[in-house]
Amino acid sequence: MARVALLVVVSFLCLAAAAVRAEDPYLYFTWRVTSGTIAPLGVSQKGILINGQFPGPNINSTTNNNIVINVFNDLDEPFLLSWNGIQQRKNPWQDGMPGTNCPIPPGKNYTYHFQVKDQIGSFFYFPSLGLHKAAGGFGGLRVNSRLLIPVPFDPPADDFTVLIGDWYVKGHHALKEILDSGRTLGRPNGVLMNGRSGKSEDGKNDEPLFTMKSGKIYRYRICNVGMKTSLNFRIQGHSMKLVEMDGSHTMQNSYESLDVHVGQCYSVLVTADQKPRDYYMVASTRFTKYHLAATGVIRYAGANKPPSPDLPPAPVGWAWSLNQWRSFRWNLTASAARPNPQGSYHYGSINITRTVKLANSVGTVGGKTRYAINGASFESGPTPLKLAEYFGIQKKAFQYDVIADDPPKDLEKSIKVAPIVLTATFRTFIEIILENPTRSLQSYHLDGYSFFPVGMGSRRWSPEKRKTYNLLDAVSRHTIQVYPRSWTAIMLTFDNAGMWNLRSEIWERHYLGQQLYTSVISPAHSLRDEYNPPDNLLLCGAVEGLPLPPPYTI
Ligand SMILES: *[C@@H]1O[C@H](CO)[C@@H](O)[C@H](O)[C@H]1NC(C)=O
Ligand SMILES: *[C@@H]1O[C@H](CO)[C@@H](O)[C@H](O)[C@H]1NC(C)=O
Ligand SMILES: *[C@@H]1O[C@H](CO)[C@@H](O)[C@H](O)[C@H]1NC(C)=O
Ligand SMILES: *[C@@H]1O[C@H](CO)[C@@H](O)[C@H](O)[C@H]1NC(C)=O
Repeated sequence: MARVALLVVVSFLCLAAAAVRAEDPYLYFTWRVTSGTIAPLGVSQKGILINGQFPGPNINSTTNNNIVINVFNDLDEPFLLSWNGIQQRKNPWQDGMPGTNCPIPPGKNYTYHFQVKDQIGSFFYFPSLGLHKAAGGFGGLRVNSRLLIPVPFDPPADDFTVLIGDWYVKGHHALKEILDSGRTLGRPNGVLMNGRSGKSEDGKNDEPLFTMKSGKIYRYRICNVGMKTSLNFRIQGHSMKLVEMDGSHTMQNSYESLDVHVGQCYSVLVTADQKPRDYYMVASTRFTKYHLAATGVIRYAGANKPPSPDLPPAPVGWAWSLNQWRSFRWNLTASAARPNPQGSYHYGSINITRTVKLANSVGTVGGKTRYAINGASFESGPTPLKLAEYFGIQKKAFQYDVIADDPPKDLEKSIKVAPIVLTATFRTFIEIILENPTRSLQSYHLDGYSFFPVGMGSRRWSPEKRKTYNLLDAVSRHTIQVYPRSWTAIMLTFDNAGMWNLRSEIWERHYLGQQLYTSVISPAHSLRDEYNPPDNLLLCGAVEGLPLPPPYTI
């Protein structure tokens, strides 16, 4: 009897949970993706527009909102969007990477449907195929805290999105041909801030991007959506109080400038406490032999005085950058939606069950440049790996674990080109050491999760380096830099079932193979761990026309 009663209670709770879920509000969007002429550096080129806009529209959402975006691909080629930092809990079907989803064919549409479950903060979306990202198609995505959840600062007077990134005047087809022929992209032609360089052809300032009222406080969300270059962001005459990065509230330190690596997002509060006039925001290249910058104007309402031409200088060297990273701390007392509260609070006391060391390298295969991780360079066929796995034809599409948990001794020698899928046991807590023996900065992003970057250091990692880890208040995030000839250690719990892309955000490396997928399978095969694919799932490659496997029912 007691057992039956318990069952009744449990089913009631499940129903209640389902009812609560059903009440989370829906946001609907219809997006048309087109090709159009843009000239952000004064040179006309073909850009990828969303609803005619470059950059694309901002998504303004709140924790747990359901986001439904019907994307019409009016390009003459396949297209796919991904959501940088949105964890897609239990829902790998909407991640929009070529290894998880079929592209939207030209002239067709696909409706993404996902929930920004238990997340807050600043993110962006971007086109994930080929070099589309070099042509636009990206935009900001913010997730506000729910009304009753306290935020560790007062509501700002306004909330601004600042998308910064390096830029090429060549179209994405031309850039792709360069890489396909074995050459490198070389230096970008400029830097953009919200699609503009700061000066028009006649040398005059662009119109102000934002207006502040004297005495008020504003939130700026800065994301690096570029192709390869780390950028330093600063605002003339104003310091920035850091409040959030990659979806976590931070301790609120003040900074004169911030290094923003490709794929990362930061939120800062800026007080309009200076003399009323215009001020420049500056985003300039870091760790490069060349110097490129974009500026954007902030206006004080009512003032009509141009900005001073003296731009604040960028910091020098990467030690400065490493020290800045060390100063970032998670605000442990700030309440916020967290996907994994048990794991998050005490990550330092969870036992590591596996250490994976991933070292990146560059070499040549068949006379062409390839970028690799642990000696393998990612390349995959027309069937998304997740779909091959789901439809049970995995053996035809890829082999699991073609790379080991340790890099081979001679990294450059004989790079193998293959689909790379690492298996991770569901809910295990893993340490990943990212080693970058090359001379250029690396930026890694992991889909489906946020992780704790616990340590960084120069040269090789060794087990005694664990003594230097921050096991208390590292900021949980989705993208982390690895300095030249250095390592970064991250920790995470693989508690999100699915197939998730781990990639270099340096897009030519990503395109030429520096990426892999992690397959995380829940042994329960249950809806509690992973949703069924949506009814509108696009099929392609070897799974086209195959019958769907029986859905999970419990
Ligand atoms: C974004 O959403 C929040 C919460 O619904 C709302 O208060 C705010 O005004 C919105 N901002 C914009 C720019 O639409
Ligand atoms: C395409 O858009 C139509 C509405 O215009 C919608 O009914 C349909 O479900 C969409 N297709 C996909 C695959 O999402
Ligand atoms: C951390 O969050 C708490 C709770 O919201 C807030 O009161 C406190 O000011 C924050 N601390 C810092 C240093 O940001
Ligand atoms: C971690 O491992 C140690 C030693 O094997 C053990 O004593 C401890 O209970 C474990 N802690 C947890 C949280 O499992």
